[in-house]
Amino acid sequence: MSKSLKARIGPSILNADLSKLYEESLKLLSNGADYLHLDVMDGHFVPNLTFGHPVVKCLRSKIKEAFFETHMMVSKPEQWIAPMADAGVDQYTFHIEPITNVEEVCRKIKENGMMVGLAIKPGTPVSTVEKYISLADMVLIMTVEPGFGGQKFMEDQMEKVKYLREHYPLLNIEVDGGVGPSTIGYCANAGANMIVSGTAVIGSEDQGATIKLLRDTVEDAIAKR
Ligand code: DX5
Ligand code: ZN
Repeated sequence: MSKSLKARIGPSILNADLSKLYEESLKLLSNGADYLHLDVMDGHFVPNLTFGHPVVKCLRSKIKEAFFETHMMVSKPEQWIAPMADAGVDQYTFHIEPITNVEEVCRKIKENGMMVGLAIKPGTPVSTVEKYISLADMVLIMTVEPGFGGQKFMEDQMEKVKYLREHYPLLNIEVDGGVGPSTIGYCANAGANMIVSGTAVIGSEDQGATIKLLRDTVEDAIAKR
């Protein structure tokens, strides 16, 4: 049994009622969310826009304790490191596809006091991120094309998760996109331990029960390793 790998559930508020971002976030946390996954989109790296550091900073001013991860779906991840650190972000997860200076970006994130997450899209081979793993606190394997909530889970991405878990037993591996009660089994068995879930948690009648089910499934899989 793994000693330090932890199951952690981080709901995405993307498909929540964003006019009530604070209330929706509090509700998720009181229902057992381990962290908040905040989807930042720039309309360039992905064909959608969400929010940026001013909104994250406002949310942080009212929610002091929770762990904030920003999922940066942006073409220039370097540009937002300092503003996001200032906004109170704990982990800065960015896509490596649009840039060539991944090491430098990782270094700057750490210098700004945040943890580093490296994300890849479904079409990006796992070998592309593998070379940077020693610089990262977490790797995010996208299970949909980034840009929108509510898409269908891509089971074929589990090969990447399995590969990473086999080679890096204690690496934090996150999955994001189409994850909910009907797909968590694939993620847990493949070896993911950090679970982003948007629509399935937000739209659920009983958020607490859904979050618990996700966590229990991952904990069971970790215990069997
Ligand atoms: C997609 C985002 C995801 C997404 C999750 O680009 O990164 O975080 O909103 O939502 P669901 O779980 O609905 O796919
Ligand atoms: Zn996301």
